[in-house]
Amino acid sequence: MRIVKRVESMQRLALAWKRSGVRVGFVPTMGYLHAGHLSLVRRARRLVGTNGKVVVSIYVNPTQFGPREDFSAYPRDLTGDARACRRAGVDLVFAPPDAEMYPKGTSPFSTFVTEESLSQGMEGAARPTHFRGVTTVVTKLFHLVLPDVAVFGAKDYQQAAVVGKMVRDLNFPVRVVVAKTCRETDGLAMSSRNKYLTGDLRRQATILWRSIGEARRALRKPGRAISALRLKTRLKAFIEKQPAARLDYLEFFDPDLLVPVSKVEPGTQMALAVFLGKTRLIDNARL
Ligand code: PAJ
Repeated sequence: MRIVKRVESMQRLALAWKRSGVRVGFVPTMGYLHAGHLSLVRRARRLVGTNGKVVVSIYVNPTQFGPREDFSAYPRDLTGDARACRRAGVDLVFAPPDAEMYPKGTSPFSTFVTEESLSQGMEGAARPTHFRGVTTVVTKLFHLVLPDVAVFGAKDYQQAAVVGKMVRDLNFPVRVVVAKTCRETDGLAMSSRNKYLTGDLRRQATILWRSIGEARRALRKPGRAISALRLKTRLKAFIEKQPAARLDYLEFFDPDLLVPVSKVEPGTQMALAVFLGKTRLIDNARL
């Protein structure tokens, strides 16, 4: 397995693969890899086959973090990540330094890509510059890795939708595949940020998955449509019964258009963000 740090080397290699007809599967990550990330790696391998190449990028992208967010504290472990990738059969890890991705100096970085519809609500409303950072870095990574197929996790449902829209709108020759969310045995969605959850916070963190369960149970009662507003109010109270939990947002929406619905029914998508102490967790599911 190769570890590449320079953008120029990455692009040169990717171009050589392209010219010789090698299929490339790509999993972009911010590292501190867990079983969720590795399930995307396995999916990428299945998509490109044994003759294809699987590339994982490990890059904590500063432009997708807000000024008061956890960019500097975000967990990093390139050695452990490289070991996990090697075991998972990854061909190449791309781990560029900030100075390569966003040059300063005489010609500082100044071009951004924005998606202006699906990125507006939920994570986009709570974190105003977040998706601009994601679409910009994913564009750069696509240009460096030149993948045929890129795998994203349903855990970040809106992110996958925004990237998919960008790829269609801007005609990237990349297929976007969305893989299902991996969970701990108690339902907590795996996340690099779970590292912040110590002691009792870890136990309280199951409230996201349990509130999805509550919504599903509410839908099982036959006969009446459920008002999104009423269900939100009920779930907010349910969530905030946990002493450390504070609801950031909870939304019921159309899974394709990402517009909020006023009536919740089977097939409605639910997403929520909850602060547990200082740690912000997100989750989502099809009801
Ligand atoms: P990161 O949070 O490291 O996630 C990398 C990929 O892993 C994303 O596609 C995410 O949805 C997926 N993922 C995370 N947890 C998962 C889980 N429990 N099950 C399945 N997939 C999971 O998302 C990012 O990084 C960044 O925004 C990035 C796309 C790399 C751009 O910087």
